[in-house]
Amino acid sequence: MPHTFVIFGASGDLTSRKLIPALYNLRRKGRLPEDTKVVGVSRTAFSHDEWRASLAESTEKFAGENFDAELWSKFAENVFYQPGDVANAEDFTKLDAFLKELENGDEATRVYYLSMAPRFYGPTVEQLGKAGMAGDTDDCSRRVVIEKPFGTDLATAQELNKVVHRSFDEKQVYRIDHYLGKETVQNLMVLRFANAIFEPIWNRNFIDHVQITVAEEVEVGKRAGYYDSAGVVRDMIQNHLLQLLMITAMEAPVRYAADPVRDEKVKVLQAVKPMQGDDFRRDTFRGQYRGYTGHEGVDARSRTATFAALKLCIHNWRWQGVPFYLRSGKAMSCRTTQIVIQFRQPPHMLFNDGPRGITDANRLVIQVQPNEGIQLHFQTKVPDAGMKMRQTDLDFNYQREFRGRSMPEAYERLLLDALEGDASLFARADEVEAAWKICDPILQAWQSGDKPTLYMYDPGFWGPEECSEWMSAQGRNWFDIC
Ligand code: BG6
Repeated sequence: MPHTFVIFGASGDLTSRKLIPALYNLRRKGRLPEDTKVVGVSRTAFSHDEWRASLAESTEKFAGENFDAELWSKFAENVFYQPGDVANAEDFTKLDAFLKELENGDEATRVYYLSMAPRFYGPTVEQLGKAGMAGDTDDCSRRVVIEKPFGTDLATAQELNKVVHRSFDEKQVYRIDHYLGKETVQNLMVLRFANAIFEPIWNRNFIDHVQITVAEEVEVGKRAGYYDSAGVVRDMIQNHLLQLLMITAMEAPVRYAADPVRDEKVKVLQAVKPMQGDDFRRDTFRGQYRGYTGHEGVDARSRTATFAALKLCIHNWRWQGVPFYLRSGKAMSCRTTQIVIQFRQPPHMLFNDGPRGITDANRLVIQVQPNEGIQLHFQTKVPDAGMKMRQTDLDFNYQREFRGRSMPEAYERLLLDALEGDASLFARADEVEAAWKICDPILQAWQSGDKPTLYMYDPGFWGPEECSEWMSAQGRNWFDIC
């Protein structure tokens, strides 16, 4: 079936920066059928040609050296624009008529991509339903892709799910989290489930703890207004970090398909007991970088956390007693996303000079970005030095191993999957709700004022110094690897 890709929020930043370059790259790589139609919808009055011209400019900028003017002109022949206001039912009837005309009366897969301000998600989905554009819930040829944030807390996420399900069946709904589109995140599933050697040690018997860090060097910049109402928990932890947690901790699904994968992921979140009482003070840590309140759009007395560290425990047979430390922040030393699996120490050390502390024990470091790869750290005998040992590593690096193959943008994979009807790398309704169940109590406790302290940190560091003390008080250290 030919595809029609409809973008609501066509004049927005995400469309020009990510969505159109991803679609263009898919076409360039021969993965997007040539007759795929891309239709932009927003309130701005553009003609088809005006929109194409503005996209040509932005795509050249964001697709970089992959931009080819000739190929772009061919791609742009199938790019269209239809003005429309979410509040106006008639605009949806017009849009449907326009899409039918483009589709020439033939059957086509339609993907509606909601890339607009989140307050428009519900109304847009409702209008699609009312206009009969959500299609037959059985054949799944009509799909809706919904960007994050999916709600701002559990209640709003549940409400949005209800609204969405009035028009679309869950099988038609694709909640996007671009972290799942990253090659290295998918590779984590390959590492765990396409190799036999990791599974037997991937549990409480061998693992001391896990650290998941998503550090960003950037400050909040132009998104300060949005960020001040969101903060790091809503912006990063509820979605990206919990996705990484789920993939690290899940059981092997019975097969690689949307529901078996998501069933196992949801079980991980269900096993995390929501915090209460003293837990917030003991197991959560928050910070704000100095200068944050000086951004335009940020309340001068804002207590919004731009840094957070959480200790989560997964109460099941595999992970009982193994803390998962999640840490994320803006204005940090460098941009890095990594998952550190810290193994236990050997049960008995034979060598007098042997390592003793947990940081000398085996460690698997999964570098999600930007230095994509995996390192396994282990002890090695130093030559000609008695039984002296040193930690060394086996180092797999994507760039080195797959020379000439650049890492694709996460959106490429995800948009293609949505067009092809594979929801394995998208979040299900119960998954986002389970994630909010973990985050909601933390947000509420932090809002209640006094607990825990909001520590300040200077931009360019690994968050507040006190966070290292918080970690060492638990007998562990953060691995700050740039
Ligand atoms: C987004 C957040 O979802 O992810 C941003 O809203 C953040 O605040 C971004 O900067 C990080 O994505 P990436 O792919 O650059 O790690």
